[in-house]
Amino acid sequence: MTGQTIEACCSTSDAAVSEDRVICRCLNVTESEVQTAISAFNVETVRELGRCTGAGKGCMACHGRLRSLIREQLG
Ligand code: FES
Repeated sequence: MTGQTIEACCSTSDAAVSEDRVICRCLNVTESEVQTAISAFNVETVRELGRCTGAGKGCMACHGRLRSLIREQLG
């Protein structure tokens, strides 16, 4: 994250919005990658998701959204 501030790295500006939304901007992990990991590896925690995809291993600003995706998908 050389030369980049935490705010710039983790803002939720329009740059984050695309067809496959980037959920974790630090590690550039998309929503579909997270959903695939949750279903393929039965991921139940943000820590497990980090091991599978790398998501959440930076500033941790995405942890709430990652937890929501896990809850939504696991029902
Ligand atoms: S957005 Fe920084 S760790 Fe995910």
